[in-house]
Amino acid sequence: MEDKKQIHLGSFKVDQIYCGDALELMKGIPDATIDLVITDPPFAIDFRANRSNYNRAQERVLEGYNEIPREKYYDFTLTWMKEVHRILKETGSMFVFSGWTNLKDILNAIDEVGFVTINHLIWKYQFGVFTKRRFVTSHYHILFVAKNENKYKFNKIEHYPEDVWVVKREYWTGKIKTPTKLPLALVKKIILFASDEGDIVFDPFIGSGTVAVAAKILKRHFLGFEIVPQYYRLALERLSNASAELFQTTQEDIKDV
Ligand SMILES: C[S@@+](CC[C@H](N)C(=O)[O-])C[C@H]1O[C@@H](n2cnc3c(N)ncnc32)[C@H](O)[C@@H]1O
Repeated sequence: MEDKKQIHLGSFKVDQIYCGDALELMKGIPDATIDLVITDPPFAIDFRANRSNYNRAQERVLEGYNEIPREKYYDFTLTWMKEVHRILKETGSMFVFSGWTNLKDILNAIDEVGFVTINHLIWKYQFGVFTKRRFVTSHYHILFVAKNENKYKFNKIEHYPEDVWVVKREYWTGKIKTPTKLPLALVKKIILFASDEGDIVFDPFIGSGTVAVAAKILKRHFLGFEIVPQYYRLALERLSNASAELFQTTQEDIKDV
């Protein structure tokens, strides 16, 4: 998109990511300007960023993950979600990721803000953390919500698109990464279903930049925010090498059940 005219949203340049607090930065995005929001917000649990699961070498996982205290989580969720509702176009939609521990707050905020829930998707991944006295968690929730149930975009790119998606987590490749990186294949699938080329895709909590990288690969415009400087720098690095990730995911990574 380098050869195209630079698009501005308020004081932000589109096709850029910014380091800062999304709750503050989002106030600078004009009303009804975003086509699609895909986001995996921070958790309210005692998430151990350095735990050695998925065979990750601990020293390679970046520190500084920004958790939200449990008692403030609903207010935090409501604040960012109201802003998302304001900045989405009438045709816009949001896909928000949630583990089961935060799901109640996410669902309540969706209702309170006035979004219409289109689907409750399940992302099934292939390995979870070992447990002794409970089942191993190996799924994630993805809430697909729209501003207007009669106007949201839905490109029916599969004949029988089911609401359980089996997508592998990406294996450790030796590179530095954040503890919560989403698989590129999963984000690409959402973008293809819910947006068109040239649309603006926004993620207020961009982490290692997966949403921006997927949007760039699929010729959508993007905007993203990240509060932790190390993650922000990693996302910038991934974006400058986005074409290298182009062929890393294939249809084999995605299998519906
Ligand atoms: C679950 S992670 C997102 C992971 C991302 N989807 C990826 O694939 O790498 C949530 C991110 O939100 C960031 N974050 C937390 N509070 C924030 C805030 N107020 N503003 C911007 N980013 C924030 C965290 O540092 C973390 O990187």
